[in-house]
Amino acid sequence: MHHLRDRGYAHPLASDITSREVYEGRRTWLKAAALSAGAGASLWAQQQAYAQTAAPGKLAALAATRSSVPGAMTLDKPSSYADASTYNNYYEFGTDKAEPAKRAFSLKTRPWTLAIEGEVKKPRVFGLEDLLTLSAQEERIYRLRCVEGWSMVVPWIGYSLSELIKRVEPTGKAKFIQFISLADKQQMPGLSSSVLDWPYAEGLRMDEAMHPLTLLTFGMYGEVLPNQNGAPLRIIVPWKYGFKSGKSIVKIRFLPEQPATSWSKAAPREYGFYANVNPSVAHPRWSQASERRIGEDGLFQRKRPTQMFNGYEAQVGSLYAGMDLSRYY
Ligand code: MTE
Repeated sequence: MHHLRDRGYAHPLASDITSREVYEGRRTWLKAAALSAGAGASLWAQQQAYAQTAAPGKLAALAATRSSVPGAMTLDKPSSYADASTYNNYYEFGTDKAEPAKRAFSLKTRPWTLAIEGEVKKPRVFGLEDLLTLSAQEERIYRLRCVEGWSMVVPWIGYSLSELIKRVEPTGKAKFIQFISLADKQQMPGLSSSVLDWPYAEGLRMDEAMHPLTLLTFGMYGEVLPNQNGAPLRIIVPWKYGFKSGKSIVKIRFLPEQPATSWSKAAPREYGFYANVNPSVAHPRWSQASERRIGEDGLFQRKRPTQMFNGYEAQVGSLYAGMDLSRYY
């Protein structure tokens, strides 16, 4: 078995997980989901008893209660921790999927601060410890769909970004919100490449940022985030393509105008500001009609049809009523 070293912990590579284990994992997951239906315990904790693939266990535990936000707990089987923590996009650590897990040990996540700037009545700098306890930590099991055509299911831990936004009191001029990731050459070898305009910047319209499904994320699989997944805090927007979910955030700006984003600057025809998952609007290089679920790519590879707004249409469809989504992609 091949292993790669990450902070002294050997994660098995995704290729070590056979399709048979995946198949059996699916059955035990369904059993676990059935057992936990109605129970108060974490779905992820329930599944732990049946887990057949690499589990967390080396990072600090992060306690959370099961989320009651509508749409927050998909019953799709979570991807293995091994897959979610070794198949990553984090260009500050290289453009290859395996590189972030090998190289992100150099990211220093304590101390950490998040600056709130722009159109707010209470601009301030939060320390990580204050943010961790600002609101109750919830577990949410979200589908994540990448524009490259693959998807995962991850049990994240965090709370609605709206909890933070309410506390800094946006002014009437705040129409958009921008997320700025850390950009430190000392810690991030990928910054020597000009593949993107650093720092990594993403943005949302204010109503999208306030939507309860938009998650300020501190952990996954019962623990704090591994560095390669965006420690110590990141954004997750489950109805949008994965690139909208900025990692290792250091600044949030409240703005009157729509901000530029790293991906739309790099290739405006390919990556729009909205980036809502939409099977009927193709990317210039990739159809978005179907997706490969990571972990299901064995001999009998099944592609899944991609769902409108990644399956969150009931919750977020009204945000886009009347918009031409082929124009605002
Ligand atoms: N955030 C930063 N700072 N840098 C990145 O390169 N990649 C994005 C997003 N956030 C990226 C980022 C892309 S393209 C995806 S698909 C998701 O992170 C991947 O998140 P994951 O590795 O936790 O699955």
